[in-house]
Amino acid sequence: AAGASVPWLASPAETGRLLRSELPLPAPFQVPLRVPRVLQPTRDGDTDRYELTQRPARVELIPGVSTGIWGYDGEFPGPTIISRSGRRTVVRHRNLLPVPTVVHLHGGHTPASSDGYPTDLLIPEGFPPGGHASGHHDPRADIRVGSRDYEYPVLQRAATLWYHDHRMDFTGPGVWRGLLGFHLVRDDEEEALPLPAGDREIPLMITDRAFGADGSLLYPSLDPTLLHRHGVPRPYRQGVTGDVILVNGTPWPTLEVDAVRYRFRVLNASNTRRYRIALDPPPPDGTGLVQIGSDGGLLERPIAHDRIEIAPAERFDIVVDFSSYRAGQAVTLRNDLGRGTTADVMQFRVGRRAVDDSSVPQRLSTIEPLRPRMATTTRDFVFRTSGDHVWEINGQPFDPGRSDATPRLGDVEIWRFTTDFHHPVHIHLVQCQVLQRGVEDRGPYDAGWKDTIDLRPSEHVSVIARFAGHKGRFVFHCHNLEHEDMAMMGNFEVV
Ligand code: C2O
Ligand code: CU
Repeated sequence: AAGASVPWLASPAETGRLLRSELPLPAPFQVPLRVPRVLQPTRDGDTDRYELTQRPARVELIPGVSTGIWGYDGEFPGPTIISRSGRRTVVRHRNLLPVPTVVHLHGGHTPASSDGYPTDLLIPEGFPPGGHASGHHDPRADIRVGSRDYEYPVLQRAATLWYHDHRMDFTGPGVWRGLLGFHLVRDDEEEALPLPAGDREIPLMITDRAFGADGSLLYPSLDPTLLHRHGVPRPYRQGVTGDVILVNGTPWPTLEVDAVRYRFRVLNASNTRRYRIALDPPPPDGTGLVQIGSDGGLLERPIAHDRIEIAPAERFDIVVDFSSYRAGQAVTLRNDLGRGTTADVMQFRVGRRAVDDSSVPQRLSTIEPLRPRMATTTRDFVFRTSGDHVWEINGQPFDPGRSDATPRLGDVEIWRFTTDFHHPVHIHLVQCQVLQRGVEDRGPYDAGWKDTIDLRPSEHVSVIARFAGHKGRFVFHCHNLEHEDMAMMGNFEVV
């Protein structure tokens, strides 16, 4: 019934894991990269106020094709918000969509009341009473109608955050349809560094999508609540992927660069798809992709990678030095994990030499190491599917009424994750450090503060975090959004 009443759940044709577009795809590297607009605040004392309207819109993602989306201010991706560490940010969201929504600031150190708990719905005005029930009753849900203020204290260091829809059981389709955007935090420490800045600092949000013959975004048509409540076959059990790679909403874009250093904030905002990105050809001087930051901001020291594996919701802040390429050279950002159309991400066209006074210092920041002996508690979480029904944590599907962990405010805890499959695990509220991955201390992509930890099949990963700042109820979950919607989510309550 829910499936029938939701207008976009309309395309019964797709059943496979990879959705294939039904229209001719544009040739790669033709469309100039778009950079999302930066939203301007109203300043009010120590608070920056923003307003965003969530609404349906028609946009041109594929050149010459009109696509219906749901967007923040009708844009795909939504506008970028830039906060200053220490200045409060309040975002008033208005919902003009045909469905309820929830906004989560991913990577935000946010009080529970504004964190976007999956049942804290923002219901559009005039929505039929009871129409938001998706089979759950959560007496603690804080439901609003029309608009809602999300309040972010921004007592956190500079980092690449992002905001996106988080409605229980429907995060995958909401984000797929366009409810996602960057939210950057800046601070003095980072600004004092000579990193590339201005128009040489560019966010890159990588997503995959598939398009119907009429230009619509394809998404499997079955309602996940019906699926996982009643155990009917799920065509997108493993997650949903498409055959078009979009960067900032531009298909396989091209970017003209000077032969200088650039800083790219790479976010994998795809529902399911993982990428292993590499430059082709690699920089002749051997510099590669120089990682300067992770989910939670700057690393202590830069790390040079030949390639970077990036799971959904992870961020890699990288610097690329184009100065050793020759003028006119085309440099492709490839995806080693893709096939056919998904093996390419975007292309850089290297232009002339230009003045470049940027550099990447060997010392970027200081990170307090969290040590196992600081931990008061160790918890184990097994991320696994139960037969053919739901994706579960410790054998249980998500239930807003259950608490799976109750860290005390300020405590340091070790969480150990085990899995049978790829699961990018995201913990709200905190940033953690990876202590161990399998038999290694850490994997090559585990440095720095992380809020999303890429679990690979059969891996054991231990992380350590301090549960400071805010009491209350938060979630942790798989950030494969279809796994999340199929109940691979748990609660923790900071007490
Ligand atoms: Cu990016 Cu709980 O999500
Ligand atoms: Cu998963």
